[in-house]
Amino acid sequence: MVVKKLKTGISGLDKVFKGGVREKSALLISGGPGTGKSIFAMHFLIAGAKAGEPGMAILYDVDKDEYLDYADTLGLPVRKYVDEKKIFLVKQPLLVRKTPNLAVPLELMRKRKIKRVVLDSLTMFSYVHVTEDRQYRSEIVNFLDRMNGVTLLATSEARFLNIDEANFNPEDFLFDGVVYLTKVRKEAEFERVLHVSKMRGQDHLINLVPFFIDKGGIKVYPDQIPFAVVGWEPPTTGFAK
Ligand SMILES: Nc1ncnc2c1ncn2[C@@H]1O[C@H](COP(=O)(O)OP(=O)(O)OP(=O)(O)O)[C@@H](O)[C@H]1O
Ligand SMILES: [Mg+2]
Repeated sequence: MVVKKLKTGISGLDKVFKGGVREKSALLISGGPGTGKSIFAMHFLIAGAKAGEPGMAILYDVDKDEYLDYADTLGLPVRKYVDEKKIFLVKQPLLVRKTPNLAVPLELMRKRKIKRVVLDSLTMFSYVHVTEDRQYRSEIVNFLDRMNGVTLLATSEARFLNIDEANFNPEDFLFDGVVYLTKVRKEAEFERVLHVSKMRGQDHLINLVPFFIDKGGIKVYPDQIPFAVVGWEPPTTGFAK
């Protein structure tokens, strides 16, 4: 079977994914605050719009205007594609209810033949819709089930500062692919790095890859070694064990 891979729209990243993200897979972008999760997701939607794959963002964290203004400040053309009806934004109400009301996004997906869906963020989705621990996995599994047939990218808060001390969350096991975004420090300098933890059914790079966020969004440098790890000694615990 030939697996179709979708372009992420992020310069350098498709090399990390050895071609792109497997069509109809579910990818989790996990990281601390301000690590680039939402911007990553914007690129993914824009790449879809350019490739004739309509996209939809299900927003929990911010409202539509904030989302569009943010994209404008980065010079990312989300607004243009929203105007052209190639990207659709759905703001979900922050009403605590046990079962999420996905009627609006699901109807849009059907009507507009949506191929790429962004959930920003899975963390807020869980805060709003998960009222007991036992329900956590099942609510995410239900959501993934509803998103069957599209390529999904969800953002998620990770509670680690140091990637070697990352604690896995239940959702890391439920998604097909997981990418961690973080920063590494060398003396007074911080550097953004990403690490693909897993991609079910496809090959990918597993090293720490440096990236930058600037006007124009994210740029990934898969052929470079993060300067912050040059001369670094592996810890005795964690990933490098
Ligand atoms: N115009 C810009 N130029 C340079 N860097 C920027 C610009 N806009 C945002 N950034 C960087 O991107 C970071 C935010 O990226 P993003 O919104 O994707 O983070 P996030 O991981 O979604 O954060 P949160 O968990 O708070 O939602 C900012 O903290 C800043 O470092
Ligand atoms: Mg965000």
